[in-house]
Amino acid sequence: MTAAPANDIEFRSVTKCYGSVTAVSDINLAVPKGAFVALLGPSGCGKTTCLRMIGGFEQPSEGTVLIDGREMNGVAPYRRPVNMVFQHYALFPHFDVEQNVAYGLKQARPKLAASEISARAREALEMVRLSGFEKRRIHEMSGGQQQRVALARAIVNKPSVLLLDEPLAALDKKLRTAMQIELQTLQRELGITFVLVTHDQEEALSMSDMVCVMNTGRIVQMAKPQEIYDRPADLFVADFVGKTNRISVTVEPDGATLRLSNGMALAARSCLKPGAATVALRPEAIDLVRQSTGDGSSLAGIVTHRIFLGSTAEYQISVDGLGDFLVTADRRSMQESDLVEPGERVALTFDPGKVHVFPA
Ligand SMILES: Nc1ncnc2c1ncn2[C@@H]1O[C@H](COP(=O)(O)OP(=O)(O)OP(=O)(O)O)[C@@H](O)[C@H]1O
Ligand SMILES: [Mg+2]
Repeated sequence: MTAAPANDIEFRSVTKCYGSVTAVSDINLAVPKGAFVALLGPSGCGKTTCLRMIGGFEQPSEGTVLIDGREMNGVAPYRRPVNMVFQHYALFPHFDVEQNVAYGLKQARPKLAASEISARAREALEMVRLSGFEKRRIHEMSGGQQQRVALARAIVNKPSVLLLDEPLAALDKKLRTAMQIELQTLQRELGITFVLVTHDQEEALSMSDMVCVMNTGRIVQMAKPQEIYDRPADLFVADFVGKTNRISVTVEPDGATLRLSNGMALAARSCLKPGAATVALRPEAIDLVRQSTGDGSSLAGIVTHRIFLGSTAEYQISVDGLGDFLVTADRRSMQESDLVEPGERVALTFDPGKVHVFPA
């Protein structure tokens, strides 16, 4: 007897070309059973292509896709234990909401009783907060509501893998947050593997156990959300996931000193290769104090903009000799008098341990 495979989905050196376009290139990926994985990356980086290869709607040009330890190349979508919510959710316009959701259940063999089909469709609609809309026509539903019908249709027959391509893109922020929580709860309750495609970094970080950051057809980092944010693998990840300040520096010949173009020195945490490098520093890692001049141990600048964001305030600071910096201040730890105003001179301090150095 062989042990059950620990991975639900596996890509082994998968490449997909459409004619002369290489959509994804040499992807290796392992999604453990019951995990919630997000594929995150900018438009055109190959997220949907990866999802479609799991679903069986595309075949790899090279390499192998496995589901539950079985090779899937050439296996038709309906023979795979997966369901997909498409980026452009293809609902049946001539059916009502409940009929759309019940469609998959009606195809089940052995046949299910009509009462069970209806009960399960209604249960799925309740999960996506659409109770009461059962008899509506699809064209009578808003974009966000249609998206939730597509979601209900995909979860109704409890697949072992659910593939979600930007499933919440059409929802407003409040409903989207609510649905994010619902989806997470649903995933835990059903214990099934979720692969979510999104270009929204907040969504990826907040919902998944594992984030897979993609860029131009490749995976650049796969790690837990916190690790992606705290230890980005490269400048692309640092920029794409969260906001970041980039500072050009020179690593001095001792390999231990980072010299900024304004002359300020920072101690490196580890020995680095001498030469040009870029430092990435998160806006929330910087503290602002009112001060007219820098003393060499901090950066000095002038506040050019303040953006009020409710629980936080974002400042754009023109730093002497270094250009614009973004600084985020948490307003909970702030008195009204701590808010600095545009036009004020400030000093910027930060823990040198919080900077990430990337060689040029
Ligand atoms: N059927 C196709 N024929 C030719 N090129 C394609 C086809 N489908 C996708 N591509 C190309 O492959 C690349 C990856 O596309 P894909 O749809 O996977 O991107 P994505 O990451 O899902 O982007 P988005 O966030 O915009 O949905 C793009 O350059 C795209 O133009
Ligand atoms: Mg896509």
